[in-house]
Amino acid sequence: MKIAVFSTHKFEKKYLEHVFNGKYDVKYISTTLSFETASLAQGYDAVSIFVTDTACALTLQILAKSGVKFLALRSAGYNHVDLAAAKRLKIKIARVPEYSPHAVAEHTVALMLALNRKLIRAHNRVMDQNFSLDGLVGFDMYMKTVGIIGTGKIGSVVAKIINGLGCRILLHDKSENVELHDKYGAIYTDCDTLCKESDIISLHVPLMPETLHLINKDCIRKMKRGVMLINTSRGALVSTTDVLEALKTGQIGYLGLDVYEEEKGLFFEDHSEDILQDDIIARLMTFNNVIITSHQAFLTDTALSNIAKVTFDNLECYENDTKCDNEL
Ligand code: NAI
Repeated sequence: MKIAVFSTHKFEKKYLEHVFNGKYDVKYISTTLSFETASLAQGYDAVSIFVTDTACALTLQILAKSGVKFLALRSAGYNHVDLAAAKRLKIKIARVPEYSPHAVAEHTVALMLALNRKLIRAHNRVMDQNFSLDGLVGFDMYMKTVGIIGTGKIGSVVAKIINGLGCRILLHDKSENVELHDKYGAIYTDCDTLCKESDIISLHVPLMPETLHLINKDCIRKMKRGVMLINTSRGALVSTTDVLEALKTGQIGYLGLDVYEEEKGLFFEDHSEDILQDDIIARLMTFNNVIITSHQAFLTDTALSNIAKVTFDNLECYENDTKCDNEL
């Protein structure tokens, strides 16, 4: 089988090479997949893509014409794939539904702690031989209220870690995880109450039409003044312009982002030689109470090994014509 792996990043290549171990004819391509680059897969049986790739109807049509019959997603999310078009074109798709909820949850809590204790500012000061503490006062997490929106695989791990810090935990989800209530004392409530009562709010729902701009000016108005907002889920869950205004007034006191509405073409790449064109992220970067990471919450050794392994297994299922549990 011939496989074209689009958007191969340096950070993941060794994990992919390790699992493929010379078994298939694999071409690693650093370019992202789009209708403009799809012809690179000419003559390949399968294509593997990352979250930054776009498998729209036109792209899939070109892939199908090029002989591609299988799409192996190196991600859990599939909002970058036109599933209906793939079905029409008889391209099978499989994903990696879970690679490490712990990786994302731990990064989420790292953002909370780094924002609260102003670790980036503190480190930069020390590097400048400024050992003063003024302006670095944080708060005890103990007994603070943390609101978690979305208590699936990642949100529930966040709740368990936060429980260890002695926080009061409020949860909101369409379906309740009784373990979080029974074992960890967390309380399910509606989204409004969670927003009103939480000192820290963390987002872990998927991006769907009903969750688009879930955090907007109306919702922010109801939050406690100086609230900490963390988003490691998907950028468009938050209206970035509304959050920016709330940072200016102090309504939002801390912001931790691992994802950004307009991250496509920006995150995952080195733009250090370029002139930044995005005025919104440029403004966000001026606040000393904002930490932005470039969609790296998943980036652990464990997660990358799991992504590579499950991607390989999915391709094996296709090759052997066996049932694949991860097929969409
Ligand atoms: P999951 O599917 O296990 O959990 C999502 C939860 O959201 C479910 O419990 C579901 O009932 C709930 N939900 C869905 N729609 C809702 C709504 N309208 N209102 C309330 N609750 C709703 O997903 P998982 O694995 O926990 O991932 C969560 C998100 O994290 C993913 O959708 C993805 O966007 C993001 N993610 C981010 C990564 C990163 O590196 N920053 C890596 C992996 C995932």
